[in-house]
Amino acid sequence: MLSSIATAVLFTTLAQADTQQYNLTIQKNAPEKAYHVPADFFSFGFETAFFPQFDTDFSENIINSISSRMSKPLIIRIGGTSGDLVQVNLTQDEPAHCASGPSCPYSSEDIFVLGRGYFDTFKRFQSTTMTIQAPMIPVRPDSKDEDWIPNSMEFVQQAYRALGKERVNAIALGNEPDYYSYGVKQYVDRALKIENRTIEQLGLEGEDRRIFELGDIGWTVIKQRDGDGEDFGLRKVFQNELNANGYGKYAAQHYYQADEGGKYDSQALQDRLMNHHAIAERFPKMRRGIEYIHKADSNIGFVISELGCALGDPPISFAGAFGAALWAVDFHLTAMARGVKRVSNTMRPEATHSFWVPNDMGPQTSGPSVQGVFPSAAFITDFVGKGDSLGKVIEIDVPGTPQFFSAFAMYNLQSGKLARVALVNLKQWDHNSKDDRGSAEVILNVDAGVGSLHARRLHAEKGTSAMGFDLGGHEDNVTWAGEQWSHTVDGGKGHFVYGSMVQEEVTVENGHGTVSVLDSEAITVYFDQDVSLLDLLH
Ligand SMILES: *[C@@H]1O[C@H](CO)[C@@H](O)[C@H](O)[C@H]1NC(C)=O
Ligand SMILES: *[C@@H]1O[C@H](CO)[C@@H](O)[C@H](O)[C@H]1NC(C)=O
Ligand SMILES: *[C@@H]1O[C@H](CO)[C@@H](O)[C@H](O)[C@H]1NC(C)=O
Ligand SMILES: *[C@@H]1O[C@H](CO)[C@@H](O)[C@H](O)[C@H]1NC(C)=O
Repeated sequence: MLSSIATAVLFTTLAQADTQQYNLTIQKNAPEKAYHVPADFFSFGFETAFFPQFDTDFSENIINSISSRMSKPLIIRIGGTSGDLVQVNLTQDEPAHCASGPSCPYSSEDIFVLGRGYFDTFKRFQSTTMTIQAPMIPVRPDSKDEDWIPNSMEFVQQAYRALGKERVNAIALGNEPDYYSYGVKQYVDRALKIENRTIEQLGLEGEDRRIFELGDIGWTVIKQRDGDGEDFGLRKVFQNELNANGYGKYAAQHYYQADEGGKYDSQALQDRLMNHHAIAERFPKMRRGIEYIHKADSNIGFVISELGCALGDPPISFAGAFGAALWAVDFHLTAMARGVKRVSNTMRPEATHSFWVPNDMGPQTSGPSVQGVFPSAAFITDFVGKGDSLGKVIEIDVPGTPQFFSAFAMYNLQSGKLARVALVNLKQWDHNSKDDRGSAEVILNVDAGVGSLHARRLHAEKGTSAMGFDLGGHEDNVTWAGEQWSHTVDGGKGHFVYGSMVQEEVTVENGHGTVSVLDSEAITVYFDQDVSLLDLLH
């Protein structure tokens, strides 16, 4: 009740605000070009050295609240820059001890020594599987060519044993080799050596050998060089026989939306993050690599194993608030509609783009908190669906290909019928904006007409600067279908602010639906009644 009153009030104050109009034509049956979206598309990742800091009930509750929306275990990626530098010392008591580095113990470039207790962390998060990373950088500059291999193997062996075979989803060979001091051929040699040792040491046989995540190529290098990573991109490492043995399970690329530096104000949020053109224009740069790999071995899935909205350390208002949530929604949906098989949102406590902060090591030092970006994770996993509601996705053509609006359709895997439509209104609005909050009026034309429709909203009353309840209090709530996540209120389990899930019926007239999406809001429209039933009635 409360929520519908709130909505009614909202709409009267909108009278003078700007309205965009979109008339979308949507096929009722899955088109050829629709991509199958794996049940484990959505993923989190923890920087290797910071993994023990996530070993809390709070983090476990958060993970479970997302993985319970999925019909395959959520995959956690343990890896990153720190993962290449770690040293294992099983006689050390401390799980992870920062030994040296640029900003001990906060940076992923710091060198950590891992004790026996570190590996107990792998026993947490039993609802998940994990990808681990074989460290590939010799930490001591004077070390001889192969000195680093025993340390790397110790890490892999300990992690594998603690997880148990069933929970090891993949083993990555190093991280962002395009930043290594050696060239492609040397890298491939070393990676294959690690692959060989791993197989021997873990005693992998037959299909179990197909366990490696290949590449994990960094992002900036691709951008700086000739546009598609020819120098040290996925295509290049595959051409140099990185998958010579056919043990590759995934080919992985990293991705950051905004480069380091520049402005981080609301205009920058609009230009750099909440901008469908800025998101979509980077995919062609990865396409040649994707196509090459699929041609070479169609069983290899292309994944984005490390994702962040921005490099460097932008303020939370830019990287960890509700504006970043809308970017995350648009990015993940754009990626799934282009055949990407998984996206891992990598975090460490101090990173401002983290979905949540597990302890008092965060940028605000205010203790554990869920950030405003977080509810996008629930939006994305619900759009992917679970069990019988899994499907195939396309991006819907929006007339005029606007910068600040995008639409996606999900078709049921079994029936091929339209099941859900996501509408993302990226037009930046915030309580500090001069104008009233505008909206997009969207007409949904489905070629066979529509049945009854329901809409659920990813919403923040305050707009893009909402930090979430934990960091901003009552004015900063961010909800998905009326649910929000908070360390203080629910310990990370999620709770419905008004007691139950909030969804609205969508107006249907003359066979088409009309729905309003506020500026800086995303919604999913659920097609409750199978459209094929309507065919029978006609
Ligand atoms: C929307 O597009 C459909 C299909 O092109 C067309 O039949 C319909 O008249 C349009 N409606 C509006 C209100 O423009
Ligand atoms: C391993 O850790 C123990 C206990 O902290 C320490 O005494 C020992 O020197 C360490 N070994 C190496 C090789 O660093
Ligand atoms: C690993 O390399 C050794 C030495 O070249 C070779 O004999 C062995 O067959 C390799 N193992 C696998 C699993 O490829
Ligand atoms: C924000 O969320 C809190 C915690 O669920 C709730 O008590 C409060 O009523 C919400 N505030 C608004 C304005 O909805």
